[in-house]
Parts: sequence; C-alpha cells; structure tokens
Amino acid sequence: MASETVVPINADVDVVVARQRGRELASELGFVPTDSTLIATAISELARNIVCYAKHGEILIKPVQSGDRVGIAVVARDKGPGIANISLAMQDGFTTSGGLGLGLPGVKRLVDEFHLVSNANSGTTVTIKKWKR
Ligand SMILES: Nc1ncnc2c1ncn2[C@@H]1O[C@H](COP(=O)(O)OP(=O)(O)O)[C@@H](O)[C@H]1O
Ligand SMILES: [Mg+2]
Repeated sequence: MASETVVPINADVDVVVARQRGRELASELGFVPTDSTLIATAISELARNIVCYAKHGEILIKPVQSGDRVGIAVVARDKGPGIANISLAMQDGFTTSGGLGLGLPGVKRLVDEFHLVSNANSGTTVTIKKWKR
C-alpha cells in the first residue's frame, strides 16, 4: 500500500505541493477522480489556513484502513495562535480574511470525518478522513 507523506507548509508553493501529494495518493488508493479532487481541495484549504494564520506547519497524508474500507487521512497541524472561537470559525460564511474559499465548514462537508482541536497553547490540528466509495 502507498505510504504516508509529510509536507512542510511554510509558503504558498507548499500548498500546491500538498494538494498534488493528496491527489496522487488518492488516485493510487483507487479513489474516483472526482473524490481525488475533493481531497485535494480540502488539503489546499487546510494548508492555506496554515500559511495564512499560523505561518508554519505541516500536512500529513496517509492511507487508512478499517475492515474492508480503504480511505485517506489528512492531518493539518501547526503551532500557531489557535482558533479563538471554534464554533464561530465553523459557521458558514465566517471569515477573518475575506476568504473566497470553502472555509472549514466547506472542508467538513467534503469529507466523512472531521476533527478539529485548537487552542492558544498548542496551535491547531485538523484531522479529516475520506473513505473510498
Ligand atoms: N490554522 C489556523 N490557525 C489559526 N486560526 C485559524 C486556522 N485556521 C482557521 N483559523 C481561523 O478560523 C477562521 C475560519 O477559517 P476558514 O473557515 O478557513 O475561513 P477563512 O480562512 O476564509 O477566514 C479563520 O478566519 C481564522 O480566524
Ligand atoms: Mg480558510
């Protein structure tokens, strides 16, 4: 099975790299092209947030398996300032940057599992999973 990759996120160009790695791994795992695109989109959204709000972080992309199911897990983590108000950040249309992107609520809709841990001491970690159809 394909292995996991970690993409350090420090600048805009890294967003593109993370996005490509996600798409590659998804298609290697046999995701249909539309779902590979959704995974890539979710990754670029999370990576962009790292660049924008935390400056530095990393994106870990790995295959996951549960019984017969094969999926992909993405962990986006940084040691930045954390999200001040998580329930506000998870509301559709909330943005502190005038972002035109999907935002966190959009990412949540694209995937099967979404887990967000964020505080001022340890930064932000978003874990998402999507299973193959
Ligand atoms: N990695 C992060 N570190 C700190 N704050 C974050 C991070 N990701 C998101 N946020 C905060 O959560 C808000 C919502 O994020 P998001 O839904 O992606 O919208 P947008 O990026 O368009 O503002 C952001 O405006 C920002 O304040
Ligand atoms: Mg954003």
